[in-house]
Amino acid sequence: MSTIQTWDPIAYAKNARFVSDLGSPVVELLAPQPGERILDLGCGDGVLTKKLVELGCEVVGVDSSGAQVEAARTLGLEAYVVNAEELAYREEFDAVFSNAALHWVKRADAMIERVHRALRPGGRFVAECGGHGCVAKIRTALVQALERRGIDGESRVPWYFPTPGDYATRLEHAGFRVNSIALIPRPTPLPGDIIGWLETFAGSFVAGLSGKEKNEYLQEVRAGLEAQLVNANGVWVADYVRLRFSATKE
Ligand code: BEZ
Repeated sequence: MSTIQTWDPIAYAKNARFVSDLGSPVVELLAPQPGERILDLGCGDGVLTKKLVELGCEVVGVDSSGAQVEAARTLGLEAYVVNAEELAYREEFDAVFSNAALHWVKRADAMIERVHRALRPGGRFVAECGGHGCVAKIRTALVQALERRGIDGESRVPWYFPTPGDYATRLEHAGFRVNSIALIPRPTPLPGDIIGWLETFAGSFVAGLSGKEKNEYLQEVRAGLEAQLVNANGVWVADYVRLRFSATKE
């Protein structure tokens, strides 16, 4: 997960609560059973992790953000600061679950190999993340506004949005059988202005800009996106595409 991106649990709760609110389909795909031991990879502030606990599972959450792990612990959860590529568990979990986190992991093969190792034989890896084309309009606006400032915008993109074919190949290579994998376009109404979303998720693009430069940059990105992403009711709708999959350790 990106080293420049930082997470503020209070801002996250204000600008991105929809991330856990929209997590039901991937929880349904997981079909957690009471008593199962589950690793929540990229647990964030733990709101979805807690749902798994309430369903009777024994859940461990891991996240690269210390602040998010602290927030998860205040919910009474067992949570640790761990990078996804550095998971050290061996044959310990019935399932590894992840919502809205894997697109921050650039070394996907290293992470998938560690997930495979963490699972018991027959264990499941069930996840949803940004997929090919996700937030394409927002990404383009962020990159182009940096390039107008003489900064290499592409090098600042922190996200990896794979195609189903790409990710299925990676999963199979690591020893998984892929049960299902699909791209799901999901235009997502935001709880407020796009500036809140940008301040929450686009930290790597504004790194090194002064307060004034950052403000001007974000306003320019906002202006470029307004005609594309504000609907007839005046609501900002982000162009999300999900990649959702279920795979089994053979
Ligand atoms: C996503 O969940 O797809 C996402 C989150 C933050 C930035 C980009 C995409």
